Amino acid sequence: MLLMVVSIGGESSVAVARDRVGLIGRGLDADRRVMLVVAVIRVVGPDPNGPRLRAIGLMRGSPVVRFDGHRRPTDASTPHGVAKRVEGSAMVSASSTSSRERSPGAHAGPHGRAIGWLAGGVAGVAILGGVAAAWRLWDQRVLRPGTGPAYEPWHADLRAGTPLALVRAAVLASSAHDIQPWRFRITDDSIELLVDEGRSLGALDPLGRERDLGLGAALEHLVLAGPPNGYAAHATILPDDARPDLIARVALTREPAAVTAPPATAPPVEPLFDAIPHRHTDRTAWDTSRTVTASALVRLAHEAVWPAHVVWLSGEEATRFGDLTVDATTAIVEDAEQATADAHWYRQDWHAIERDRDGITIDTVGLPSAVRVLLRWGPPMPGTTLQRGWVSATRDRHVRTASAFGVIVVRDPADRAERIAAGRSFARLHLRATLDGVAVQPLNQLLERVDRERATGHEGTFTAALHGLLPAATGAVMAFRVGYSKARLTPSPRRPAEQVIVA
Ligand SMILES: Cc1cc2nc3c(=O)[nH]c(=O)nc-3n(C[C@H](O)[C@H](O)[C@H](O)COP(=O)(O)O)c2cc1C
Repeated sequence: MLLMVVSIGGESSVAVARDRVGLIGRGLDADRRVMLVVAVIRVVGPDPNGPRLRAIGLMRGSPVVRFDGHRRPTDASTPHGVAKRVEGSAMVSASSTSSRERSPGAHAGPHGRAIGWLAGGVAGVAILGGVAAAWRLWDQRVLRPGTGPAYEPWHADLRAGTPLALVRAAVLASSAHDIQPWRFRITDDSIELLVDEGRSLGALDPLGRERDLGLGAALEHLVLAGPPNGYAAHATILPDDARPDLIARVALTREPAAVTAPPATAPPVEPLFDAIPHRHTDRTAWDTSRTVTASALVRLAHEAVWPAHVVWLSGEEATRFGDLTVDATTAIVEDAEQATADAHWYRQDWHAIERDRDGITIDTVGLPSAVRVLLRWGPPMPGTTLQRGWVSATRDRHVRTASAFGVIVVRDPADRAERIAAGRSFARLHLRATLDGVAVQPLNQLLERVDRERATGHEGTFTAALHGLLPAATGAVMAFRVGYSKARLTPSPRRPAEQVIVA
């Protein structure tokens, strides 16, 4: 048997025992472990009885390759396995177990031998490639998107009748780039919503506007989950000037009627609550043959929480907004600081998603499923490639297939309480849209450029353009598109409630 081990950096050990070969990549991160291309091949020769590759699996996190066939003499001499170590990068090691295998063309002439070796080499490379591809397919869960512990919060019990159930509903809220900037403290009679200062979009959200909107969305989910769990939930926004990290305190009062009274007298359960585990951001190309009617838009706008309200853009305003959004996306990817802040939250590797349980994944960027499979199967892409794709997606999919654009406005976009009201408004609107079968995607690049101009003291192109677009509503804090989708969506990862509850 010929062992061929290719190690990419780090250190690898090989353990051979009976019919299997175990390989251990040490000192490698998850991504490079995937890249550790490993195969054990029998060099092609006229031996029909040699071992054949049967299966590839995992044993305590290390790849194991199994073989069919008889034991070879050296296997017998190592009944409990032998260990061989290779170090460094791109190493190839070989050991053979019989003279016949050492010389696969031993019974042929020199030409035959050469052809034998060549054929063996080609077959080896092909098998090697096949094993690596199969390994990556399996290791990255390419054919099982949206599965694994990072997605379990979407299936949690939101009606357990405990404060924890309210937090479970809250963590399913929308947040820019899925940064999940929240923490929760459960007391005897309340749940406190706290900002997690360590989770921010940096230069992409220099004024903290988007973070506050995400906190508002989480607050709305928390409050909506009160009645179905037997609680009346009353939120006080920013209750303590001395504690700027405390975004809201939600007082919980047990509603015995919710548990014991007949349905007619039980407190009404807000239907928006039922939409919480089904709401997802939709970045796919939408059905341009369908239009969201004016009455459907009015119904969505009714979900706004005072003092926020929704402005719908139509005609030339909509076209202008679309063009500005594409320009703003280009400006973001050309601005080194904003581009870095954006790429920081991209998650491509399955193991990174399981570790961090946040961020933007390939499965949620709105590509057709065949393309997603190919991209996830291949090696990770540089952020710049993904950002080029973002610009073209904004132009060709997001703007072009939108039925309407909406903007949430407040009186003062710098006012934190108003931003939180805007976040609550967006959450309600998105849940209502989910119930109505309407797709929603925030499109905030224009506002991100406006904030960037404000933060750097260079109010310029985009600030002026926004004023021109919304003269009566300079307090724009959130922009989005609505339409009709044709796709089944993969959810975004989430940290579970237990992970974001603090003592
Ligand atoms: C304030 C805010 C701004 C957002 N901006 C964008 C955006 O510009 N483009 C986009 O595609 N999604 C945007 N999103 C959606 C988030 O990226 C999304 O909520 C997050 O990735 C989690 O995915 P989910 O909504 O499917 O649960 C925004 C969400 C919020 C709350």
